[in-house]
Amino acid sequence: MVRTVEIAPDIFRISVYVPEINLEFSHFLVRDEEPLLFHAGLRGMFPLLRQEISRLMDPSKIRHIGFSHFESDECGGLNEWLQIAPAAEPVCGLVGALVSVNDFAIRPARVLTRDDVFSTGRYRFRFIPTPHVPHGWDAGVLFEESEKTLFCSDLFHQWGQLEPTTSSSIIECCKDALLQTEAGPFANYVPYTHHTGLVLHTLGEYSPKTLAVMHGSTYFGDGRQALRDLASVMREVLGPKAEQGTTASGTIGGR
Ligand SMILES: [Fe+2]
Ligand SMILES: [Fe+2]
Repeated sequence: MVRTVEIAPDIFRISVYVPEINLEFSHFLVRDEEPLLFHAGLRGMFPLLRQEISRLMDPSKIRHIGFSHFESDECGGLNEWLQIAPAAEPVCGLVGALVSVNDFAIRPARVLTRDDVFSTGRYRFRFIPTPHVPHGWDAGVLFEESEKTLFCSDLFHQWGQLEPTTSSSIIECCKDALLQTEAGPFANYVPYTHHTGLVLHTLGEYSPKTLAVMHGSTYFGDGRQALRDLASVMREVLGPKAEQGTTASGTIGGR
């Protein structure tokens, strides 16, 4: 049920597959002088994640808990981690902190603004706000600069239990997942706005070598090209339809 792989030195992908919804949830642990957990995970997954992280390090030593946006799979277990790790603090963007996290969490967030950088020891993380990409006003991502790992949350969503990592292109799988999602009850999972393409191209300018995806395989390869391809896929699947006032689900405007 839980699979853990090391995607970079001391950066672990801890993944839990939920067969009922055919979806994998990945959490990324950076075992460093000041350990970071990216994705606190669902509250219901906390006991399982705690047990798994205990095999890698003492979870009470976690110092930073990051996530893209305020949603249960990103930060539902935040307070449970803050309770067992007394020096830990949430790290998120200004909007996330002021709108949700500082009310929800038992300790206030460390607030990051565009291109703020913090170190965990050997690794350096840059915060890049990405409003409404993948979704949520508060959305942002972390980019680890030494290994060039982009912690990209729900971007590149793939359904199912796939291989933990791959060097083969994931874009067709992502396109299929997006089409499948739009046709089902989770339609409108990702909005398409006039900022979407620019946000994805901006992320590509950081030239990530690893895309640490929340739902699906971690991708090793040309992250810049993958982000450009994702921008094209999202425009193809979501953009023109939205401009015409319809979506694959037909729910916008009651159509
Ligand atoms: Fe999400
Ligand atoms: Fe997610």
